[in-house]
Amino acid sequence: MHAGAFRLPKAELHVHVEGTFEPELIFEIAERNGVQLPFPSVDALRRAYEFTDLQSFLNLYYAAMTVLQTERDFAELAHAYLGRAREQGVVHAEIFFDPQAHTSRGVRFETVIDGLWSAVRDSERLYGISSKLIMCFLRDASAESAMATLEAALPYGERIVAVGLDSAELGHPPSKFRRVFERALAAGWKTVAHAGEEGPPAYVWEALDALRVSRVDHGVRSLEDPQLVARLRDERIPLTVCPLSNVKLRVVDRLEDHPLRRMLESGLVVTVNSDDPAYFGGYVGENFASVAQALDLAPGALALLARNSFEASFIDAPTRAAYLARVDRAEVGA
Ligand code: ADE
Ligand code: ZN
Repeated sequence: MHAGAFRLPKAELHVHVEGTFEPELIFEIAERNGVQLPFPSVDALRRAYEFTDLQSFLNLYYAAMTVLQTERDFAELAHAYLGRAREQGVVHAEIFFDPQAHTSRGVRFETVIDGLWSAVRDSERLYGISSKLIMCFLRDASAESAMATLEAALPYGERIVAVGLDSAELGHPPSKFRRVFERALAAGWKTVAHAGEEGPPAYVWEALDALRVSRVDHGVRSLEDPQLVARLRDERIPLTVCPLSNVKLRVVDRLEDHPLRRMLESGLVVTVNSDDPAYFGGYVGENFASVAQALDLAPGALALLARNSFEASFIDAPTRAAYLARVDRAEVGA
C-alpha cells in the first residue's frame, strides 16, 4: 500500500464512532453485557457486511450498537478508534455520535457523552490526536425528537463542537430540521449535515440555506448541479467525502468511477474520510491509499487533501497553522 498516504498528517472529519465498532469488540461487549447477538461468531458477523444501499447498512449498524450500554462501553469504543486512527496518520479527529440510537433504547444521554468524553478529553495525551465530538440527529426520527436531544445536550455544550444530521437520507430533507439547527446555532454550536450521499443536489442546497452548515458530509451528488458546484467552490464549503463508503453502499459502482478527482478539478474543498471504517473495509489511511491508486492521484493531490482536512476542521487558527506546517514537512511520495 501507499505508505505516504498513511504517514501524511491528516484530520478526520467524517467518522461515526458507532461505525468504528469492530466485530471483535462487538462480541466482547455483548458477552460482558449478557446480550445475545443474532450471529454465531465474529466471522459470521463480518460475512454479513454486504450492503445494497444506505438502509441495508443502517439496519446492521443500529442492530450491532445495541450492545453498547454502559459508560465504559462507550469509552472503550472511542479509545479503540483513536488507537487505530493514530496508525493512519490522523492527528485531529472530529467524531460523530448518534445519541438517539442509544437513548431510544433506554441508555441515558449522560452515559453516552460521559463515556465518549473520557476518551476525547485525553486523546492528545494518549494518542497524540486532538479530538472533538459532533452530535448527530437521526433524520428519519422526528424534529421533536431531535429538539429533545438538543435540550439534553445543552448542559454538555462545551464537550460538543457541532451538530450534524445523519441516517436514512431519502425522504428526510434537511429543511425538516431548520428550527433545531437554528437553536443549535444560537447555542454556539457549528452545524454540518449529510447531504447528497443518496439524496439529490436539492438537499445540499437546503443544508446550506436552511441549516447554515459549515461543511457538507458526502455531497458527492453535488456534481449533478453546476450552480451548486459554483456556490460550494466560491464559498469554500468543504465536502467530507468517504470513497470506500460510497463503493460499499453502492453510491458508485467502483472506486475507479468515484467523482473525487472531478471534485478536486472543479475547485471544491474536498476531504477524504472513512465514515464507518469497521464496516466499509478501511480506515482513513486506506481511503487515501485506495483513491490515490484507483484515481491515479499525484502526491500533490494527496497533500492538498490533507491540507483541506485542516482547513475544513473546527480548530483554532494557531493549531491549524501548526498542522499545515506538519503537512508541508511530510514526505508524501509513494
Ligand atoms: N450513519 C452512519 N453512516 C452513515 C452514512 N454513510 N450516511 C448516513 N448516515 C450514516
Ligand atoms: Zn456518514
